[in-house]
Amino acid sequence: MSIVMKSGEVPRYNASERVTHWVVAITFVLLAASGLAFFHPAFWFLTSLLGGGVWSRILHPIIGLVMFAFFALMAVRYWKDNVIKSYDREWSKRLSDVINNRDNNLPEIDKYNIGQKQLFWTMIITMVLLLVSGLVLWRDMVFAFPVTVVRISAVVHALASFVLILGIVVHIYSAIFWVKGSMRAMTRGTVTHAWAKHHHPLWYRRVTGGAKK
Ligand code: HEM
Repeated sequence: MSIVMKSGEVPRYNASERVTHWVVAITFVLLAASGLAFFHPAFWFLTSLLGGGVWSRILHPIIGLVMFAFFALMAVRYWKDNVIKSYDREWSKRLSDVINNRDNNLPEIDKYNIGQKQLFWTMIITMVLLLVSGLVLWRDMVFAFPVTVVRISAVVHALASFVLILGIVVHIYSAIFWVKGSMRAMTRGTVTHAWAKHHHPLWYRRVTGGAKK
């Protein structure tokens, strides 16, 4: 279905999508900070973000559940848009054209590029691992899991957070510095016609019905 655009902008995320994303982003920062503080004393100062060591230990798992719940909403919404297609594989083989901005040589891509899609699936896997291992570590006092299960959970929790933190660093770098003009999609909710046509031509045609502007 095409969208009628009077403002010269292309809608990309509505208000509820943006609120969901920023709840995930804020809870992620609080979790990464408190989690790093539990991981190594060098990061202990970060506990002050949540009101000290005791409050960090109490709040970290609860904030974790909030992040997972809101992320699950995003995962359901964007699942279909992140399925990897044959043109994505072709696009990723021509990285030198991507980096050198020779877009005419590239196959047209839809709402997300393959890098965004791979990161999306990395987020899904790490989020599920963090939830399951986190629940074991949190509820150990109640259910008294075998010690091996608790130890494996501790390692899985640390590894999954490490991968997710690295992934989010890449996500933030590309949103702010690499693909200029992306941030407004998650702040104002819209992108320019030029951005949409340049970075996501298939998506652009789908939402505008091929509008020229
Ligand atoms: C903290 C700083 C963050 C910034 C500045 C940021 C920025 C953005 C921007 C600009 C977009 C739109 C990209 C586009 O439409 O092409 C986006 C999409 C998205 N963000 Fe973030 N984000 C942040 C944190 C996070 C976190 C912590 C998560 C999840 C753990 C996350 C998950 C997503 C997802 C799933 C999308 C939809 C696009 C996709 O499927 O790849 N973001 N973000």
